[in-house]
Amino acid sequence: MPAVAGTVLVTGGAGFIGSHTVLELLNLNREVVVVDNLVNAAQGVGKPASLERVERLTGKTVTFYSLDVLDKPALAKVFKQHEIATVIHFAALKAVGESVEKPLAYYRNNVNGTIALLDVMEECGCKSLIFSSSATVYGSPQSLPVDESHPTGVAITNPYGRTKFVIEEILKDLCVADKEFSAVLLRYFNPVGAHASGDIGEDPNGPPNNLMPYVSQVAVGRRPKLQVFGGDYDTPDGTGVRDYLHVVDLAKGHLAALPKSAEPGCHIYNLGTGSGFSVLQVIEAFKKASGRDIPYEVVARRAGDVASLYADSSKAERELGWRAELTIDDMCASAWRWQSRNKYGFLCTAGGGRHQW
Ligand code: NAD
Ligand code: WQD
Repeated sequence: MPAVAGTVLVTGGAGFIGSHTVLELLNLNREVVVVDNLVNAAQGVGKPASLERVERLTGKTVTFYSLDVLDKPALAKVFKQHEIATVIHFAALKAVGESVEKPLAYYRNNVNGTIALLDVMEECGCKSLIFSSSATVYGSPQSLPVDESHPTGVAITNPYGRTKFVIEEILKDLCVADKEFSAVLLRYFNPVGAHASGDIGEDPNGPPNNLMPYVSQVAVGRRPKLQVFGGDYDTPDGTGVRDYLHVVDLAKGHLAALPKSAEPGCHIYNLGTGSGFSVLQVIEAFKKASGRDIPYEVVARRAGDVASLYADSSKAERELGWRAELTIDDMCASAWRWQSRNKYGFLCTAGGGRHQW
């Protein structure tokens, strides 16, 4: 796979998608520097636990700085010390419900954090960014599958989603103003699963907001049952349909986007599989992968949810040469391997560590 040269700065690289991407970058022998303030990642003995495991899996060392992207002087030092060629910007708060309760915290962290990063990039002459956007920018889809020309910013139901939309607009404006700047906006659909080793994976702090980690925690016995939000949608079985994407495929999508991040301009790609699965189909697939029962009850719809959302990712295939390879069974099997080997996540002490459950 072709790749631009130089050191890659990964913000939020201790998190779920970031740690999987760092692992793939190291496997390609890329120089990687991670910054993360650990607001949503577990501290290990020295480095964050996820990155300690990435080091074990790759046999390579990860350069890590515990810092907030809002801390511009500290961030500028990292840029000056490492001659950063490209930034992959994962650092963000991502809990939809929490964003409704604490909108200012979300705008401050996600939008101001991105502006702080862009200020430092400007100061240090770095003009290449890959941004973690989200299918949430499409709001309630007008047609399916959703491609990149679908309107964005309309009917987004929560502040988290609006932070992603606002950042996209900022990056588009920046690319107009600075003809040398390159921004790649990757709109992820529903990232799930874990590295095949089962040593890194998704480790939510507190009760999971998303389906797959909730199902995993029910299967492993951390939670008694799943609530299925809505059984009366206009879908084949009445439950919500989403485009679940294996996190390893997603991580590889960032590698595929690296050459684009050397081409000035704003480049936008959906990253999904193009196939939708319902909540009940995910439960069935997880039962098969884990051999465990997944007790559930169908309850009222969750505010802000849409019936169906899945991607047209053909642009990424055409222009980046990227296509999701892994199936829903691979997603469930790897999520189960991670969860069953790490019942309580990275900090495996029940009742201890940072976890509440
Ligand atoms: P995550 O919470 O596991 O990782 C985010 C990381 O960013 C965490 O390690 C956190 O400690 C760090 N962070 C947050 N604010 C920071 C700051 N101000 N300074 C430094 N570090 C900071 O989340 P994830 O699932 O890995 O998501 C990564 C990115 O992808 C986020 O931008 C998220 O919005 C986006 N995204 C995620 C999903 C999903 O379903 N997981 C879907 C679409 C988009
Ligand atoms: C999937 C399906 C739920 C939990 C969210 C964000 C989006 C993006 C990805 C970051 C839906 C149902 C869920 C549960 C359930 N994140 N469900 N019981 O809502 O598609 O997307 O994560 O950018 O912005 O909104 O994902 O995993 O929460 O839900 O029945 O306990 O599972 O109603 O149909 P969603 P999800």
